[in-house]
Amino acid sequence: MRIHQLDEQLASKIAAGEVIERPASVVKELIENAIDAKSERIAIDIEDGGKRKILVRDDGEGMSVEDLSLCVLRHATSKLSRESDLLRIHTLGFRGEALASIAAVTRLTITTRADDSDHGYRLGLSRTAEEAATTAPAPVPAPRGRGTTIEASDLFFNLPPRLAFLGSARSELFHINRVVQHAALATPNISWEMSHNGRLTLEAPAVPELRDRLAQVYGAQLAERLIEVRAVSRVEAAEISIFGYITPPDFHRGNRRDQLFLINGRPVADRGLSFVLSRAYEGLLRRGTYPLAVLRLDLAPDAVDVNIHPRKEEVRFSAPKRVHDALSASLQQALASPEAIGSIFTSEARETSQEYASTSSSPPAAHADAGFLDRPRLGLEFAGQGTHGERSSVGHRPLDAEQPPLNVRDRHRRVIGQFQRTYILVETMDHLEIIDQHIAHERILFEALHRQWAEGEIPRQTLLVPARVELPFESAEILQQHTSELSKLGVEIDAFGGGTFLVRAFPAALAESQARLGFQELFEQLVDVLHQGASSRDAILHRLLSELSCHAAIKAGDRLPLLEQEKLIEQWSTCEHRTHCPHGRPIVFRLSRDDLDRRFQRK
Ligand SMILES: Nc1ncnc2c1ncn2[C@@H]1O[C@H](COP(=O)(O)OP(=O)(O)O)[C@@H](O)[C@H]1O
Ligand SMILES: [Mg+2]
Repeated sequence: MRIHQLDEQLASKIAAGEVIERPASVVKELIENAIDAKSERIAIDIEDGGKRKILVRDDGEGMSVEDLSLCVLRHATSKLSRESDLLRIHTLGFRGEALASIAAVTRLTITTRADDSDHGYRLGLSRTAEEAATTAPAPVPAPRGRGTTIEASDLFFNLPPRLAFLGSARSELFHINRVVQHAALATPNISWEMSHNGRLTLEAPAVPELRDRLAQVYGAQLAERLIEVRAVSRVEAAEISIFGYITPPDFHRGNRRDQLFLINGRPVADRGLSFVLSRAYEGLLRRGTYPLAVLRLDLAPDAVDVNIHPRKEEVRFSAPKRVHDALSASLQQALASPEAIGSIFTSEARETSQEYASTSSSPPAAHADAGFLDRPRLGLEFAGQGTHGERSSVGHRPLDAEQPPLNVRDRHRRVIGQFQRTYILVETMDHLEIIDQHIAHERILFEALHRQWAEGEIPRQTLLVPARVELPFESAEILQQHTSELSKLGVEIDAFGGGTFLVRAFPAALAESQARLGFQELFEQLVDVLHQGASSRDAILHRLLSELSCHAAIKAGDRLPLLEQEKLIEQWSTCEHRTHCPHGRPIVFRLSRDDLDRRFQRK
């Protein structure tokens, strides 16, 4: 076969394929153009999941009649002219490709009126290929207020194989909603409206602040509980500013769909950033649950390459580690803030959130539940320093030195006493704190074990009298397969056959209290964890350590002398994550002096 150059028509359809994957890609490009045109209002009308019609109306700066003829040409853009401009992109678009691509695969009509023009023009490209070959499109005068309306209908009408790959109207609409929601979250100052088949599906008037936009999108109750993340990190000359909101650990979701990163205002998917977010919640959330987060990262345009993905959905940082570290530190700081600690007055919100979490959570992905016993090679390879060792180096650099960490600010902590042998009441400078003694102790033990493990070894204590544990056949099998891994956690057992085990040594920090409580129930539960497996080594380590800490921790109903209470509170106040237990239960409720004064109508 001889090489030949493709004709213009075919070449542009191929190029369009990279940019326009589905109706949502058309919507994305059109609304990005509307945002770039400095619009204050953007309205979107969709029919049949965008397969029949996509119409975007804006009140932005519009186009002159000359620009209108040019805008549909490939590489026609007003946003970039020199190569060096690629290093300082402030607009969402820059390639001059979108309208050309959309024109190649839809019937396109553009009506626009520029700022300084007294009337508008329309350009119709709803032509067959033959017509396109013979006639050049020409704008005709048309009535229009300031701004631009672009209608793209019959997507892929001239590319039947592509058309066949589109999903149902419902599933295409799902993708469109996501694109519009992300754009709306990126631009609280723009009014958004969207309808599908004539029915209004989103109405979000302009608001002053991201939190207000979050309230419009996710509801006021959620918005109220959000924790603010705000930090500016300066490394050499480069500045990264981070701003956004995350949910407290008890307000989680069943998937990652509600995590949005905006890099210089552009919604992007970035695995590195998602990973940093998950890390920050490590030890705070139950398996299979995820925080909601909308985080804006703003950095110098030349510190991020936005030109690496055909649909501009991914970016590349020039110094990814710096960005990750800055994000990590800002999240750690936010999660340790008083905001992250529930107040008793918001307990109603908490109840609904739990309900909400349970209805919205989808079952964890199948692979997450594949028992690790099915994959014996993976096993529990507890290396001396795993990812946890690295974690501390990433996580602890406070961004803002003026903001003292919690435990310093609350030096004035005074233990009042125990309530019903379950809660410890503490007076701080301006709060009354009510702390669940069991959960606080569990957190202390968990972090201690975790630290020891990360440092290389969990110190163990040999039991004076080995303890006996009896397990049914199946459980015994499972336990036996993991004796060497458990030994790395400081748990030494010998199998005696017939389901009998002897516990010879136990992590030193837990040995005494666990010996008092007995080992039978604990091992039954450890077997459960081992049996269920987990998605990763870290996850299973986390679950084993929380099981161990939970069992050894003091219980609700245990009487504690004041001295013990004080010791507990002191240890708890130095914990890395003071607000929630490893399973995500809250540890502390705070009542401020203000809250009380209001209650008693002093204010
Ligand atoms: N809604 C709009 N309002 C004003 N100008 C627009 C609009 N949409 C497109 N344009 C103009 O058309 C040009 C081409 O758009 P597009 O193909 O998306 O390329 P890009 O956004 O990369 O410049 C833009 O640079 C802009 O000048
Ligand atoms: Mg564009």
